[in-house]
Amino acid sequence: MSNILKHDHNIYKIIISEDELKNRIQELGRQITRDYKDKKLLLIGVLKGCFVFMSDLIRNIDLPCEIDFMYVKSYNKSTVSSGVINIVKDLSIDISNYDVLIIEDILDTGLTLETLCKLLQTRKPNSLKICTLLDKPSRRKSSIYADYIGFVIEDNFVIGYGLDYAEEYRNLPYIAVYNQNT
Ligand code: IMP
Ligand code: MG
Repeated sequence: MSNILKHDHNIYKIIISEDELKNRIQELGRQITRDYKDKKLLLIGVLKGCFVFMSDLIRNIDLPCEIDFMYVKSYNKSTVSSGVINIVKDLSIDISNYDVLIIEDILDTGLTLETLCKLLQTRKPNSLKICTLLDKPSRRKSSIYADYIGFVIEDNFVIGYGLDYAEEYRNLPYIAVYNQNT
C-alpha cells in the first residue's frame, strides 16, 4: 500500500485501493472501446477533479479519440436554488460532430452535471454520455444518471485520486473517506 500521507489523521479509511482503481478503470476502458468503435469520440473532462481518473482512463481506451476540458463552478453549496454554474473555462473546440463523453470525478446531487449537459446539448453533439468514477446515488437531487460508473459509494465525503477537501488531498493514489470530526 502507498505511504503517501499515511500519518494524516484526516484520512479516516481507504475505501478504494490503487489496485481496485486500476482494475476497474481497465474494465471501463474496454467497455468504452467497444461502445465507441467507429464513432468520433471526444472526452470532456470536468476540472479539476477529473484529471487523475481521466489520464488513467484514456490510456485504457484503444481508439482514436480527442480530449478537451471544462472548468465549471457550482453555486449550489451556498444557495437553496441550484444548478447555477459559472463557466471558469469553456471548451476550445466545436463539439457538433463529436460523440461526447463527459468525464467526472463524482456524481453527487447531479445538479452541476444536469446544467452542464443542458448547455452542451445546445451545441448539438452527435451524442452525449457521462462517465463518472464515483456515484453517490443517495444524494441525487436531479434526474441525471451516468452511463458509465466506476464505483457506487455510500454517502461519505471522499478524497484522493483527484478529489479534494478544500483543494487538498488530490494527490492521494487511492480513494479515502475524509474524517470530518477532527
Ligand atoms: P453535484 O453533483 O452538483 O452535487 O456536484 C458534484 C461535485 O461536487 C463533484 O464534481 C465534486 O467536485 C464535488 N463533490 C461532491 N461530493 C464530493 C466528495 O465526496 N468529495 C469531494 N468532492 C465532492
Ligand atoms: Mg468536480
